[in-house]
Amino acid sequence: MAVPKPADGIVWITGASSGIGLALAEAHLARGWRVAATARREPELQALAARFPGKVIVAPADVTDPEAVRRAVATIEAEQTIARAILNAGAYERDTAENFEAARLRKQVELNLIGTAICLETVMPAMIARRAGQIGLVASLAGLAGLPGSVSYSTTKAGLIAMAESLKFDLDKHGIAISAICPGFVKTPMTANNRFPMPFLMEADDAAGRIVGGLDAGRFLIAFPEGLARPLRILRSLPHGVFFPMMSRFGGSSVPGQASAKPPNR
Ligand SMILES: NC(=O)c1ccc[n+]([C@@H]2O[C@H](COP(=O)([O-])OP(=O)(O)OC[C@H]3O[C@@H](n4cnc5c(N)ncnc54)[C@H](OP(=O)(O)O)[C@@H]3O)[C@@H](O)[C@H]2O)c1
Repeated sequence: MAVPKPADGIVWITGASSGIGLALAEAHLARGWRVAATARREPELQALAARFPGKVIVAPADVTDPEAVRRAVATIEAEQTIARAILNAGAYERDTAENFEAARLRKQVELNLIGTAICLETVMPAMIARRAGQIGLVASLAGLAGLPGSVSYSTTKAGLIAMAESLKFDLDKHGIAISAICPGFVKTPMTANNRFPMPFLMEADDAAGRIVGGLDAGRFLIAFPEGLARPLRILRSLPHGVFFPMMSRFGGSSVPGQASAKPPNR
């Protein structure tokens, strides 16, 4: 399957106003790509565009709003074909059995799952028609297993991994690559308020480099850092009698991609 190159079109990145999405935009620009940047905060997207004149299409949208996403994608594709789409917009809210609420789950499902699905339904048909393209869904190591302190977040991120796996059967037939991207702890606004040890915490540009490397290599599962991803995948494959005692040693809050116990202010 051919993995797209900068000459094939533009890379569309959602959640490009901060953190991993912004770092992904910069990493692609450094590798000769043009970038279409989507998020709700337009000034942040305009600031990126100002740093790379002529290389960035600013396409603000709330990814949970189908009409806004359709307008954004139409604006981008009027100028350049989307060759690679990285659906990265997402948020975390800590929850446990004690404070579990369907409303909190609904909020994270709405952004992490439905927001991604809205972007997919908007961008995928043209890729299928062209029989070319690449899609990356940004999940998390917290999607590889149900982790402590992460009832809703793990649920949504596991859903994204399953979505990518299921789509791969069909997209393979159309010559479109798809990846499930599972970062560990990355220094971003999302993790800025965490007050617990975050093993293997990495800079956003390091994470972005690993993601671009994985996409360029056409890998399905882009899970990192190895030091966290490998033990988690091994534990996941063991009987639950081993999995739960081992995982509980992570404590109630050490979940990749999680923010403080306070609800996010956006
Ligand atoms: N940081 C980690 O340790 C880590 C680990 C694993 C996975 N992840 C995943 O990586 C992704 C990026 O997270 P991050 O750590 O870079 O956090 P971040 O800096 O808070 O970035 C989140 C991005 O999503 C955008 N966003 C949020 N709601 C949106 C909406 N309704 N419509 C459009 N865009 C929206 C935000 O932009 P606006 O506010 O401008 O809309 C922002 O650009 C998330 O999916 C997260 O779950 C992060």
